[in-house]
Amino acid sequence: MSDSDSNTVNKGRRRMLIAATSVVGAVGTAAFATPLLISWMPSERAKAAGAPVEVNVSKVEPGQLLRVIWRGKPIWVVKRTDQMIADLPKNSALLVDPESAVATQQPDYAQNEGRARKPDMLVLIGICTHLGCSPTYRPELAPADLGANWKGGWYCPCHGSRFDLAGRVFKNVPAPTNLVVPPHFYKSDDVILIGEDGGAA
Ligand code: FES
Repeated sequence: MSDSDSNTVNKGRRRMLIAATSVVGAVGTAAFATPLLISWMPSERAKAAGAPVEVNVSKVEPGQLLRVIWRGKPIWVVKRTDQMIADLPKNSALLVDPESAVATQQPDYAQNEGRARKPDMLVLIGICTHLGCSPTYRPELAPADLGANWKGGWYCPCHGSRFDLAGRVFKNVPAPTNLVVPPHFYKSDDVILIGEDGGAA
């Protein structure tokens, strides 16, 4: 092979090598980019975890508590009896925030005595505002362990915080604020959508 033939072959090889490297580079970039794209896109599971939850309350009896999960949190839906509603004002002097003045704890439409859109139906996030335990539903009147003034509510077994049947915290317990009312609205008389407020106040 002459020198000029050899130069021609070497130039050809170099072009091939440059072309091959570019392809590898492109494939490498694509392989690197794909996981990033995946991590930017929320998975179906993640979307479902944040999605609103529909609850049919047609079969909930007065005094009964229904539990559902929304965004991984326990949600309580309680159908209050007439007696439970009538007893709510009697707790006021014993409560930290009877008027629900702390705005972070409920949407505007739940800033009322019952902390609810409808007086008989309460929706709460079932997490204690002290350190996050889930309080126990204690709807009975004046049980021995909670005292003669107890008109129903929740007792937190972790450090003894107490909440009434509107989720309002009693004085002299570790929890600083009322339980949180999540956004919700009625799609119909019997169906509540938890996680959205329907755009209405
Ligand atoms: S977590 Fe409920 S009282 Fe401490």
